[in-house]
Amino acid sequence: MKPFHCFLLLTTLSLASLSTIAFTADIKPDYFFISLKWPKTQCKSKEGCCLPKKGSPSLNDFVIHEFQAFYSSNGGTIANCTTGTKFQPSKIADLVPSLQKYWPSLSCPSRDSKKLWKEEWVEYGTCAETLFNQHDYFAAALRVYKQINLLKLLADAGIKPNGTYYPGEAINKAIAKAGLGEITVSCREDEKGVNAVLDYITFCASNKGKKIKCPGHSFWICDSTNGNKVKFPY
Ligand SMILES: *[C@@H]1O[C@H](CO)[C@@H](O)[C@H](O)[C@H]1NC(C)=O
Ligand SMILES: *[C@@H]1O[C@H](CO)[C@@H](O)[C@H](O)[C@H]1NC(C)=O
Repeated sequence: MKPFHCFLLLTTLSLASLSTIAFTADIKPDYFFISLKWPKTQCKSKEGCCLPKKGSPSLNDFVIHEFQAFYSSNGGTIANCTTGTKFQPSKIADLVPSLQKYWPSLSCPSRDSKKLWKEEWVEYGTCAETLFNQHDYFAAALRVYKQINLLKLLADAGIKPNGTYYPGEAINKAIAKAGLGEITVSCREDEKGVNAVLDYITFCASNKGKKIKCPGHSFWICDSTNGNKVKFPY
C-alpha cells in the first residue's frame, strides 16, 4: 500500500505548481483511476473502521476508495485543484442512497459520509472539472464501480472472501481475462506484520466514465514474502 501512495504523492507534489496552468488551459484528463477497497481488511486492521452516521454501507462487497483523473500530458495524477467550486450536497441528492452503500466513510470516529464525499470532491473531483461537474463526477464513479462488479469477477475465477490466501497471479489473470488490463493490487500487512491482506485494487475508466482496459502497467504492492500470496478475508 505505501509504495503506491508514495508514487501518487510524488507525482502530485511535482505537479502541484502546474495545476493552475492546467486548468486555465482547459486540459482534459486522459483517463481515470478507480480504486475499490475491501472494507473488511481495514476493519480487521489496527486502524479499524466505524460505520457512518447515516445509511448502511455494504461491508460484504467492495466499496469505492478513490476516483482520480490521470493526465498523461502532465505525467500523472493531480490533486487539490483550486477551481473554487465548493462541494454542494444538494447537487448529489439523487445519488446519496447509492453513495451511502458503495462509497461510505468508514473512518473513526463515526461520521456522516458527506464529509468523505466533500474531501473526495476537493481532493480529486475538482481536478476533473473540465469533464465532470459535481453530480457527474460521483455518478461516473458509481457507474464504473457497477460495471466492474469486482466481487463477481473474482468469484467467477474461484477467488472468494473466505480467509484463503490466493496467488497474486490468479487475481491479475482474473482481471485481465475480464478485459480490464493490468491493474494495481494494494495490500496491508496482517497482524504479524508479515503477510499481505488485500486492501484495494485500482482499475481504469475512460474520460466518459466507463470501465476500460488499463493503458498502463500494473504495480504489485503486496508483500512477496509469502510467495506473492494475498489473503482475502471474510
Ligand atoms: C490535498 O489536501 C488535503 C488537505 O489539505 C491533504 O490532506 C491531502 O494530503 C492533499 N492531497 C494530496 C494528494 O496532496
Ligand atoms: C475458499 O474458497 C476457495 C474457492 O472456492 C476454496 O478453494 C478454498 O478451499 C476456500 N477456503 C476455505 C477456508 O473455505
